[in-house]
Amino acid sequence: MIIPFHKPFIGEEEVEAVADSLRRGWLTMGQKTIEFEKKFSEYIGVSGSVAVQSCTAALHLGLKVIECKPGDEVIIPAITFASTAEIVHYCNARPVLADVDPRTHLLTAEEVERKKTKKTKAVIPVHYGGQSVDLDAIRVAAGKSVFIIEDAAHALPAYYKGRLIGSRGDVVCFSFYATKTLTMGEGGMIVTGNKKWQERMRRLRLHGITSDAWKRYTAAGSWKYDVFEAGYKYNTTDINAAMGIVQLQKLEAMTDVRCRIAQKYNEAFSEIEEIIPYMIEKNNKSAWHLYPLRLDIGRLKISRDEFIELLKSRGIITSVHFIPLYRFSLYKKAGWKVKDFPGSEWVFKREISLPIYPGMTEEEIAFVIENVIDIVKKNRK
Ligand SMILES: Cc1ncc(COP(=O)(O)O)c(C=O)c1O
Repeated sequence: MIIPFHKPFIGEEEVEAVADSLRRGWLTMGQKTIEFEKKFSEYIGVSGSVAVQSCTAALHLGLKVIECKPGDEVIIPAITFASTAEIVHYCNARPVLADVDPRTHLLTAEEVERKKTKKTKAVIPVHYGGQSVDLDAIRVAAGKSVFIIEDAAHALPAYYKGRLIGSRGDVVCFSFYATKTLTMGEGGMIVTGNKKWQERMRRLRLHGITSDAWKRYTAAGSWKYDVFEAGYKYNTTDINAAMGIVQLQKLEAMTDVRCRIAQKYNEAFSEIEEIIPYMIEKNNKSAWHLYPLRLDIGRLKISRDEFIELLKSRGIITSVHFIPLYRFSLYKKAGWKVKDFPGSEWVFKREISLPIYPGMTEEEIAFVIENVIDIVKKNRK
């Protein structure tokens, strides 16, 4: 049996929706995108959503509307994907790396407090694996003049103190990349309650041209448009949006399956001393985009990397989330040092992301559990 790290959960409904989009003959951003944005806003409970090509594009536009400039600093957790930091470079600002709580892999308010300076323009907390950071505490630690741009790439749907991630906050950015909890192949969404920002993002995602410019080839529109400022080619397409609309209808059901798999893993591993439980804070309900298995490597004869290879040799493909940013050449050159991130290093040495997705069969879930436990038992000190 081969169990891939991820399999997209795509049915005939998505195939039909994409085919319908192709048959209509409108391939780029149009009515389907507008419909997807509207349905997404209704689901999250926010006044407006702006669909873009990726979460990376969403985060970048977030920094644009808050006027992030050269000389500014942006605090981000060291345990994240490269793009959370990359977009700070797009603005010629400085990413300031912060450590994470080893129990949750999340950025903390204490760390924001430590890393904050007069130059701090924004904090980009990451809702790692689908679990929210402590938003209220980070808000207080950041202070009134600092913006919070949430990297919610993993957090659809996730809850913090009973409210859905995205329903409040300055700017919240989601990813619809192939492996995410809702996918349209590639895609992203920005949600914000700020109408002026929404309007500006709509322009910026399409070269800075007036927001209804996509209409210019239809009878309803005109060939005329204006450019207010230089923008980007960040728009999504109706082909992708058609898939997003169908995936949104299935989101709750897909999340239920993820939660159930996580619960099964939790129960199965709870008796195994060499596995350190991943903590979900009491205020949170996770989207379970990731299931982080955490090895107590001091009790094992093998390293985390060897554990991954053994799982692979038995047909189970896993991943690691993430290689901390300070381990990359770019950030080493900028002066960031391993020794300054004890929490992130602790996580990096122990974490393995197990397969968790709606298409997993009972047999596959049992196979993963059985093999993880067997490898632990055979490699106990
Ligand atoms: C935490 C995090 N932020 C941002 C991104 C970027 O998402 P996208 O691929 O949609 O640009 C990812 C992608 O994996 C991610 O894991």
